[in-house]
Amino acid sequence: MKMRLFVYTGTGNSLWIARRLAQELKETTLEFMPNVSKNFTVEADRVGIIFPVHIWGLPTHVIQFIDHLQLKPKTYLFALAVNAGQPAATLLQLQKIMSTRKLPLALGYSVVLPSNYIPWGGPGPIETQGRLFREAEEKVKAIANAVLSGERKKVERGPLWQNILFSLIYKISFRHVCKMDKKFWVDDKCNGCGICLKVCPVQNIEMINERPAWLHHCEQCLACLQWCPQEAIQVGEKTVKYLRYRHPEVTLKDMLEQANQR
Ligand SMILES: Cc1cc2nc3c(=O)[nH]c(=O)nc-3n(C[C@H](O)[C@H](O)[C@H](O)COP(=O)(O)O)c2cc1C
Ligand code: SF4
Ligand code: SF4
Repeated sequence: MKMRLFVYTGTGNSLWIARRLAQELKETTLEFMPNVSKNFTVEADRVGIIFPVHIWGLPTHVIQFIDHLQLKPKTYLFALAVNAGQPAATLLQLQKIMSTRKLPLALGYSVVLPSNYIPWGGPGPIETQGRLFREAEEKVKAIANAVLSGERKKVERGPLWQNILFSLIYKISFRHVCKMDKKFWVDDKCNGCGICLKVCPVQNIEMINERPAWLHHCEQCLACLQWCPQEAIQVGEKTVKYLRYRHPEVTLKDMLEQANQR
């Protein structure tokens, strides 16, 4: 059986869980979710997509990918929405888009990992992070069994009030996300290394006079800010004093493979 996983990640959480899943599933290919603007055909019996929840819904990058995804009939499709405890209606949103494309979603799981959204406080204490990693590893074993046995069931979702309220906020904020990079700025620690440009999954950064400039088609994945070795990228005023977060088992080299795949 041919299995392919496509992952989108800002700070490595989704990449880490996708790797763990690939290990459990065995003989599975794991690829970064490409930036596609035309039909993208995937030949496989089972296809999984793994991505972070952003502002209680799907990131644009994921929407674009599934809009262009071409699968052969009867391909078994499943998804993991990686989040910090509030998946809300993200997997329902995904299921809806998939069903308009006549691509039924067999399984949709929420996987809770530390928050990478440092403007709102970030990942929490190390002990809590460790517990989340352990729980996610246990969950991924159950997910792999369900995928291997071809299960189909309702996608996971948050409480009803979150699904209603947060989906509304998602709808209102969605079209503004691309311009939220206007709040990014770079301090004097920047040495012009260009790593921020390379880790950006949607090529939203160019270097001008050896400093990053943002091009306003941002996804807010925070990869640039979190992977900058000098911690020179800031959002607003608060992040100057906040610790950065990246999944502890994901390296910069892993992230740069994405740029090499382009
Ligand atoms: C812009 C932004 C918005 C986010 N919104 C949510 C959210 O609505 N619900 C949630 O539980 N986590 C939210 N998060 C946290 C991430 O989903 C979570 O940390 C995830 O594990 C990050 O995965 P990654 O490392 O693969 O990018 C958000 C993170 C970012 C950067
Ligand atoms: S990664 Fe950091 S130090 Fe390197 S160019 Fe970007 S902002 Fe400057
Ligand atoms: S500019 Fe930064 S936050 Fe925006 S998509 Fe690129 S890496 Fe992510």
